[in-house]
Amino acid sequence: MTGPDIKTPLPGPKAKALIDRDTKFVSPSYTRGYPLVMSRGEGAIVEDVDGNTFLDCTAGIAVNSTGHSHPEVVQAIVEQAQRFLHMSGTDFYYEAQVQLAEQMAAIVPIPGDVKSFFGNSGTEATEAAIKLARHATGRQNIIAFLGSFHGRTLGSVALTSSKATQRKGFGPLMPGVYHAPYADCYRCPVNLEPETCGAECLNFVDEQIFVHLVSPEEVAAVVVEPIQGEGGYLVPPKQFLQRLRELTRQHGILLVVDEVQSGMGRTGRMFACEHYDLEADVVTVAKGVASGMPLGVTSARADVMSWPPGSHASTFGGNPVCSAAALATIKLLRGQLIRHAADVGAHLLAGLRDMSDRHPLIGDVRGKGLMIGVELVRDRATKERATDECEAVVEAAFRRGVLLLSAGLNTVRFSPPLVFTKLQADIALDVFDQALAQVEREGSGL
Ligand SMILES: Cc1ncc(COP(=O)(O)O)c(C=O)c1O
Repeated sequence: MTGPDIKTPLPGPKAKALIDRDTKFVSPSYTRGYPLVMSRGEGAIVEDVDGNTFLDCTAGIAVNSTGHSHPEVVQAIVEQAQRFLHMSGTDFYYEAQVQLAEQMAAIVPIPGDVKSFFGNSGTEATEAAIKLARHATGRQNIIAFLGSFHGRTLGSVALTSSKATQRKGFGPLMPGVYHAPYADCYRCPVNLEPETCGAECLNFVDEQIFVHLVSPEEVAAVVVEPIQGEGGYLVPPKQFLQRLRELTRQHGILLVVDEVQSGMGRTGRMFACEHYDLEADVVTVAKGVASGMPLGVTSARADVMSWPPGSHASTFGGNPVCSAAALATIKLLRGQLIRHAADVGAHLLAGLRDMSDRHPLIGDVRGKGLMIGVELVRDRATKERATDECEAVVEAAFRRGVLLLSAGLNTVRFSPPLVFTKLQADIALDVFDQALAQVEREGSGL
């Protein structure tokens, strides 16, 4: 099956019953935009518990890189599971973890020798990067960017500044974190044009943070997403990341690149850094690395990752089953999926750009590979954010059988599995077109 097939009202009776149980027993902190209750998945198709099928443009928040239950990934998981499930790489050795560290050294955008630390999630990858940066430099402070998302545990959430609700009520957060404006070129923080600017938004680091708040020689790391994910799928110009690299080198600050969302083939290259010729000191990876199995990796220059035994570890991190899934994932990505993502992504991006002529709600279309954002506005001149309309478009697409998520306040994100076909991209475009038309006609209803 290539596309959607909706047979019941949504949610259907089985979905509704399960959601009622969830409401009673599951933490209300989760943000479910619409009532999808999954039963099974294959490639980019998701079936719900009532037998409705959906085209998945979310990949479970940019995770199912090789599609739902790719047979080669499942086979690797089964084979490893039959041999052993766990032995803790913290205290023992096993080959899958060593192989994965070798693979990471071969693919991450870090020059020279590379070592890797394994956790279970993106936030753990960030925590490891923060601790490593402090340990390696003997410095305490960290610079991050406004709109960024690096995780929700108490260290990483101090860097995260995507939405205030993610921080509200949890203070005091880790001290020593300073935020600078990100290169949001649709809403340039210093009112310049990306084609001609010199990444002047970074002057804030040089001229404000380093002058008024913290000396550069006390900064351990700058943590940056090469394409800002949860902040709205913001694609910075090359000069932004290049200048950041120069600035960090100049002051002996480590550059930590968070590739949790943008990495593992999503942008049509193994890592988004490659679009920018950006070399990192530390790279964090999670989400797509193991096609849906929980794994986080913090890879670093070998001379930086020289902390002593006992200084950092995780019981489950680099679990053998997850490592086996990651090895199968990397093989598939390198085989042909990255090229495929670039190709289908270009097709989807072009289709979305074509659509902007007939939809006044579309303010900006941006992205690389299959990491694409469509920012919705109420008025193209004022760029007033169409926040409610964005949620309404996502909901209208769901009713028509296409799964989308928003990012930031008013951006619809397209982050399908990398096995997404051009035919499926055309179906998604058609449904998105209809969803936009409905909301433009009827309003958000919110
Ligand atoms: C760029 C980035 N870093 C880190 C994280 C945190 O990952 P996790 O939810 O696995 O902790 C996310 C999650 O969305 C992310 O997008």
